Amino acid sequence: MKERIEQMLAEVVGVELVSPEAVENFRVAYLGRKGKVKDLMAAFKEVPGDQKREIGPMLNTLKQAIEQRVSEAQQATLVRPKASGMDATRPSGGVPLGTHHPLQVVRREIVDIFQNMGFAVAEGPEIEDDWHVFSGLNFPPEHPARDMQDTFFVERDPDILLRTHTSSVQVREMERREPPMRLIMPGRVFRNEAISARAHCMFHQIEGLYIDKGVSFADLKQTLLHFARCFFGPDTDIRLRPSYFPFTEPSAEVDVYWGLKTEVDKRITKGTGWLEILGCGMVDPNVLKASGIDPEVYSGFAFGMGIERITMLRYQIGDLRHFFENDRRFLDQFAGER
Ligand code: PHE
Repeated sequence: MKERIEQMLAEVVGVELVSPEAVENFRVAYLGRKGKVKDLMAAFKEVPGDQKREIGPMLNTLKQAIEQRVSEAQQATLVRPKASGMDATRPSGGVPLGTHHPLQVVRREIVDIFQNMGFAVAEGPEIEDDWHVFSGLNFPPEHPARDMQDTFFVERDPDILLRTHTSSVQVREMERREPPMRLIMPGRVFRNEAISARAHCMFHQIEGLYIDKGVSFADLKQTLLHFARCFFGPDTDIRLRPSYFPFTEPSAEVDVYWGLKTEVDKRITKGTGWLEILGCGMVDPNVLKASGIDPEVYSGFAFGMGIERITMLRYQIGDLRHFFENDRRFLDQFAGER
């Protein structure tokens, strides 16, 4: 027994273990369930009692020596990545971040200003029926906006179309809410126009609507003045010019005073110093009635503005088409904008 142990000890010290497979075979041959160490353990049971005190520790020493040999050889033969220049432990580099689209930056800023005044955000579908885009807004049947020239139709009779303005969301909200309501409604709109530096078949609007008892034109003017000063700066002046929309009466267009300091100012304001930014008015009683609101009790104002137009002013962008081309050289200029 003693010799067997000593012989095995010599054997395991001398053996060469150069590959992971060799290590595994060695481990199984010695430490496995049917391995040589198990055999010795079985034989140990037969050893007379007086010899057990001597042989027991020898067996333990052998077993530990083999275990240590295995674990050292496992470490030594571990497959490591070749020296290819790859370092799997290196911290990863930064992922390049995208940028907010300028239209989103401006939309969020405008919505924020109105939310601070207590307006809630509402949205509606881009594919609409005639009622929400035209009839419910007091458009007469022969109005030119209903023409194929101006509107994209999905189906005719009954008409399904792409909304040409976000005023459709006014109608939807007036139908499903009770006054008072104060809403700001951003969205995408579509018009059948040739694409140029100043026009596109798809663009974005933000609609506003305020309905309550005793809402007046003065409320409208002051709300828009506050908005203009938040957005364009505290010294901004606005003016209201009479205008016409089928769904508001009276109606107005709002200009901000832009100035005439540079040649560009003269060009974009056509020499007046004033720039139009939105259309607005008092909601026509017919429109209130059509949506189930009693015009004898309630009144309200509405306004709508083009986000592209305001974004072009804010960032001095000369061509509308930049917004829709996803050119990184354009978009990267808005890195850091919230
Ligand atoms: N819907 C109008 C447009 O697209 C803008 C508008 C909205 C005017 C609300 C008055 C009131 O031009």
